[in-house]
Amino acid sequence: MGIGNNERRMLRAMLSDSSKDWTLEDLLTQTGWDDQVHIAGSGTSLEEAGLVSITEHRGTNVSLGDEGQKASKEGLLEARIWSWLLSQEVENRTMSELSSTFERHEAGPGVGLLKALGVTIESGTLVAGDESVIVSEIEKRSEFINSLSDRPAEVSELDQEMVSHFSGRKGLIVLEDRISRTWTLTKQGKSADTSVLEDIEMIGEVTPELLQSEAWRDAEFKPFDVNAPAPTPSGGRPHPMIALIEMIRSIFLEMGFSEIEGDFIQSAGWNMDALFIPQSHPARTMQDTFYLSDPPQVDVDERYLDMWRKVHEHGHDTGSKGWGLEFDKEESKKSLLRTHTTVNTVRHIAENPDEPSRVFGIGRVFRQESIDRTHLPEFYQIEGIIHEPEANLPMLISTLKTFYSKMGFPDVRVRPAYFPYTEPSVEVDVLWKGEWLELGGSGIFRPEVTEPLGTEWPVCAWGLGLERLAMLILELDDIRELYQPDLERLGRMPIL
Ligand code: PHE
Repeated sequence: MGIGNNERRMLRAMLSDSSKDWTLEDLLTQTGWDDQVHIAGSGTSLEEAGLVSITEHRGTNVSLGDEGQKASKEGLLEARIWSWLLSQEVENRTMSELSSTFERHEAGPGVGLLKALGVTIESGTLVAGDESVIVSEIEKRSEFINSLSDRPAEVSELDQEMVSHFSGRKGLIVLEDRISRTWTLTKQGKSADTSVLEDIEMIGEVTPELLQSEAWRDAEFKPFDVNAPAPTPSGGRPHPMIALIEMIRSIFLEMGFSEIEGDFIQSAGWNMDALFIPQSHPARTMQDTFYLSDPPQVDVDERYLDMWRKVHEHGHDTGSKGWGLEFDKEESKKSLLRTHTTVNTVRHIAENPDEPSRVFGIGRVFRQESIDRTHLPEFYQIEGIIHEPEANLPMLISTLKTFYSKMGFPDVRVRPAYFPYTEPSVEVDVLWKGEWLELGGSGIFRPEVTEPLGTEWPVCAWGLGLERLAMLILELDDIRELYQPDLERLGRMPIL
């Protein structure tokens, strides 16, 4: 029978009481092991050998939260306020006395609790209804909290009314789902013959000595079970976002792209005018853009300012009519934190107008957004362009499809969209768990953009969100989790 010494040891332990349902604690004591990994591993092998059956028990543990711990030491808020109330003369049981005795964060919620127990407020004075009901309810709650102060309990063994009451209050109790197992000998296991029980000489580690001694020729080797449960090693590892950026970087490099970078601080000219974003565009106002007061301006080559002025005012030679609005060069010189990495790709074209290029960059951008589940004021974009004589829309779409399928999202769809700087413009969605999720924008730069840059070739361009993609890959539903320094949670995220 293919069972090793650990399995034999566990079997011997279980035969000491062959009809018992063994818990983890009992087995640890009986085997003398101090690591539950041995039990999980041997138990699985014994189950496969038909000697043991494993039963899973699901339950919910209830323990005290931070507030609960505090309440078990100092008393529940309603209990403290109630005993204060009883210690006061009736005429002193006023809201103002209460607020001077208890801190504001306790007085407010405390009165709420008492009201729910039947205390009323009559012209500023607290009046108790049926005292015995109040007292007995407070006692019941206090006992419940105290009973949990020594150790957690299984939810089904507790007063359900109390559980649901305290679940509705902040920080008092914590409910945690848990799975426990018991191990029981099968009929076959109970009658395991003694030859199975003795330790055998098996080699678990191949050492240089063993190899030199020739003893390995006759040795019996312990099989490895690569599926055996084992503790997750917790050591240093790259932050998931760093790992993800590395992965994206190697995909674009593999696809023949070169990487470019740029500064966080840019002029409004390069960040927006170069992209034919009208100077009156709402995205340029303080709403979305972080303008800088120091330095208030950055230099922009006069040559470009002139070009952008012509293109914006009347279209210059691009065949466009422009925006028909007066162009303000001072506006172009304003300094800001870049709002997209598209500024890097247009500057790259301006610096290399005659060289065909396929470049990408992964960089941080800044927008005045309120922080919530899906928004951050600082985030990353995955930007790229294909700038060459034959660049075209199918080429753009297939590049993005290739990228996303290498990232593990084979289903990509594009939809018509609008950006002031591309025509056509397309939005890129990927299919995830049956839903189409929008991950970025792309298109072909308009002549109003490319002409001032000095190129006559078409440019495929895209700007994709990194954090949204990270959320899909790491299965998060709140973007903030990516940047919280919670080592435990970070340690649990998949290694990419
Ligand atoms: N810059 C756009 C954004 O920030 C994305 C984009 C890039 C769109 C390139 C078209 C072309 O959302």
